Amino acid sequence: MAVGKRDIRDVDLTENGPWSDGPPLELFAQIRSECPVHHTSGFAWFPDEAGFWSATTAQDILTVSRDWETYSSELGGILAANVGFPLELARAMFIGMDPPKHDRIKALFQRGFTPRRIAEHEQEIRAITRRVLDRLEERESCDLVTDVAQPVVSRVIGSFMGIDESEDASWARLVNATLGAGDEDLNPGGVRSAIENDIPLVFERCSRLVAERREHPTDDLTSVLVHAEIEGEKLAEHEIVMGFFLLMAAGNDSTKATYCSAMRALMEDPEQKRLLIEDPSLIPAAVEEALRMFPAFAHFRRTATRDTVLNGQEIKAGEKVVMWYVSSGRDESRYEDPDRFDVHRNPEHQAFGAGGRHFCLGTALARLELQILIEETLARYPDIQLDGTPLHVRSFFLNQLKALPVRLR
Ligand code: HEM
Repeated sequence: MAVGKRDIRDVDLTENGPWSDGPPLELFAQIRSECPVHHTSGFAWFPDEAGFWSATTAQDILTVSRDWETYSSELGGILAANVGFPLELARAMFIGMDPPKHDRIKALFQRGFTPRRIAEHEQEIRAITRRVLDRLEERESCDLVTDVAQPVVSRVIGSFMGIDESEDASWARLVNATLGAGDEDLNPGGVRSAIENDIPLVFERCSRLVAERREHPTDDLTSVLVHAEIEGEKLAEHEIVMGFFLLMAAGNDSTKATYCSAMRALMEDPEQKRLLIEDPSLIPAAVEEALRMFPAFAHFRRTATRDTVLNGQEIKAGEKVVMWYVSSGRDESRYEDPDRFDVHRNPEHQAFGAGGRHFCLGTALARLELQILIEETLARYPDIQLDGTPLHVRSFFLNQLKALPVRLR
């Protein structure tokens, strides 16, 4: 985004529309140095959507993330703009609730997502990954997004949710069409179609699954939602559907995003790729580095419940505060040479949130999937190379590639 000599305070992060080439990293660097809590006045195409404050440094994001009483997930929605994802739907997912209800619903899942319980799935995830890579045996080239990442992550989360494999692709399409409604390749009908067609279809298909689980409880996560009791009460139907959608969306999108960005970085820097091939024990550190530089979600948002001050900036009750993880991962006060991908760095980062109540449920699963995906891809295709221009999803929220053409050998 060309800023020229304009005062950074006059620049809106949304002024050129959803980012089609990834987050504007130079602009974020300027914001961090000159005005770290920055204001964007609105959205050109959605005049009814209010503007927002941006928290851009790791320290400010930590402050916002930890203080759920001042910065609510429930009051106003979880994305910078609610258009495309109505508030009542966001609030039906536990990511869009505040304590105590948030904590009670999250607790239903936490035992199944500890690093120890997730490690029990290693063989199964490796087998899924190998099976998907086997399909490339006869091929010279492929698209890592659609041919590798998507089928692997869809089958992994599909198996957790109790979905039949034959439905993976159609669920993936629905999740992409809903979260990526601003990108014409993911949703040619745009935001309107997401609201009028895709979200109702999610409800319709999920309601069928819910009815089946009511009749025949199983040990998958869909059954956990269907049979959950919070203070003696079952979840409402829309809370079950949106709880299901939250897990499906998080599982389908996020790991795919970071795997593809990591592979791109490795192909663009063959020396870093060589280090991993020679010493695969570095792969877990490379996963953390990829999460730091390429967090799957560019932001999540809170709404101020009262007048407050963030890093010297007054914020009024009811105003939006957006935590830009794509910025805090490049925060030069935390990282030396932040734009360099370094498999030895093994950094802490905020890609999974900054440690507050909403800290990602799926961290252990995401880390294991990323590790296996990178290990298996590099072991099979050590000479993998870029074979065309990677394409970014057009979005302020999804920080992911929609195409990553590669030559396998
Ligand atoms: C690279 C992979 C992933 C990244 C970068 C990521 C990122 C995040 C972030 C930033 C949040 C915090 C949202 C907030 O502060 O409001 C979050 C929450 C969440 N994530 Fe992940 N995620 C990943 C993978 C997964 C996976 C595989 C699952 C599987 C089920 C998952 C499930 C969730 C859930 C359920 C929440 C909501 C937690 C809550 O509200 O307490 N995530 N994730």
